[in-house]
Amino acid sequence: MNAGSTDRSAPALRVDDVEVRYGGTTAVTEISLTVAPGEVVGLIGPNGAGKSTLLKAIAGLVTAQEGRFRLGDVELTGLSFTRRCRAGIGLTFQIPRNAGRLTVSEELFAQARGFRHRWLPGSRRSMDAIAALLRDLDLEAVADRRVPDLTLGEIRRFEVARALVNDPAVLLVDEPASGMTADEAKVLSAALARLAAGGVGVLLVEHNIPFLSSLADRAVVLDAGKLLIEGATHDVLTSTPVQEAYLGATRTPR
Ligand SMILES: Nc1ncnc2c1ncn2[C@@H]1O[C@H](COP(=O)(O)OP(=O)(O)OP(=O)(O)O)[C@@H](O)[C@H]1O
Ligand SMILES: [Mg+2]
Repeated sequence: MNAGSTDRSAPALRVDDVEVRYGGTTAVTEISLTVAPGEVVGLIGPNGAGKSTLLKAIAGLVTAQEGRFRLGDVELTGLSFTRRCRAGIGLTFQIPRNAGRLTVSEELFAQARGFRHRWLPGSRRSMDAIAALLRDLDLEAVADRRVPDLTLGEIRRFEVARALVNDPAVLLVDEPASGMTADEAKVLSAALARLAAGGVGVLLVEHNIPFLSSLADRAVVLDAGKLLIEGATHDVLTSTPVQEAYLGATRTPR
């Protein structure tokens, strides 16, 4: 991973004054945030607040009409999803993408081939790295199972593994624990904590508040596309605006 040489004081990811509109609808506006190397930042807010939109805008999957995105010294603004992945952004999806009919390990090798500037296909390094990912995310037992046959919890862990093939500097994860058993969530939580300890920045969207608070150093709250409050996770979660806007009537956290 990116441990060792990372400068933990400089933000890995910097989002400045971003706005995304879908036609006439403003999904997010005036959003600025940073994620430092090794930091887990929780991103929460009611349904429709703009969390997934913001992750996709950072990854270049939707276009931000305003604002800038930088990863370290690299300007991401205007780059495609693929270029941003190559620059070090990893993303998992709220609704898992339809994987093909390949097995878990075949999918991971296929992903590795897509990034062959870093990993030679079939090389010792990619075999070892994929074995380590399977182990880290407790996917060894299903390595030879086809992805469509996995449980939702396994698919979510597979998605994280696939995003990690690219060795991202910052991982954007959209509700990774949803649909997981408590035991599966523990495996995932430990894997994300290890990643962060190794210097990877994590931007975590999660409605499961105990899961989020056990991982996130800081939390950022979106409400109706705007940044409502940010700060230390505990302070944010117990703040009045969050109790009212998020934990109140709008949605019962899962
Ligand atoms: N592709 C799209 N086209 C048009 N509007 C969209 C699109 N995707 C999202 N929106 C709208 O943008 C706003 C933000 O949606 P988004 O999915 O980012 O919210 P969210 O915070 O991730 O919600 P949830 O907690 O339900 O996942 C919503 O009003 C939504 O209806
Ligand atoms: Mg969402």
